[in-house]
Amino acid sequence: MRTFLLLLAFLGLALAQSEGAKVYSANCQSCHQVNGQGLPGAFPPLTHLDKVVQAQGGRAYLIRVVLYGLQGPLTVEGKAFNGVMPPFRQLKDPEVAAVLNHILTAFAKSKAKPFTPEEVKAQRAKAYAPQEVLKSRPPVK
Ligand code: HEC
Repeated sequence: MRTFLLLLAFLGLALAQSEGAKVYSANCQSCHQVNGQGLPGAFPPLTHLDKVVQAQGGRAYLIRVVLYGLQGPLTVEGKAFNGVMPPFRQLKDPEVAAVLNHILTAFAKSKAKPFTPEEVKAQRAKAYAPQEVLKSRPPVK
């Protein structure tokens, strides 16, 4: 019985991970590239996101980026970007949580506590313009 439960837990984890990877390849990979390395001058990498998620307000910011998009000048790892990311409001709360958990663990090697669908839902209460999302970004360079 214990082995069975353990197996179920592993299976659940594997499924959750593969959902995030699926959402990523369908919605994000065309810009942020297969390993989240981005494209210089156009699309920022996602490998630095541990710093963002650990900063104050970082969790809410990351959810908003996915739900509402992002627009305006920002500096990532010393490189300047000034582009437009489209919103992904159409993704369901568990999909947003899964894709954030995927990029954080697979690309940013983050040990931050996983995002939950409830956390995503809370950020739907107030809609943000992509420029406002940028204003809520923690001061991480
Ligand atoms: C059409 C291209 C495009 C797609 C598709 C896209 N992004 Fe982005 N993303 C961008 C651009 C451009 C920026 C930077 C916007 C700016 O310069 O203000 C960005 C910024 C980000 C940031 C902010 C990084 C930081 O340090 O603040 C995160 C996180 C992010 N994207 C995650 C995602 C995820 C997750 C998906 C898929 C659900 C996705 N992106 C899909 C183009 C894209």
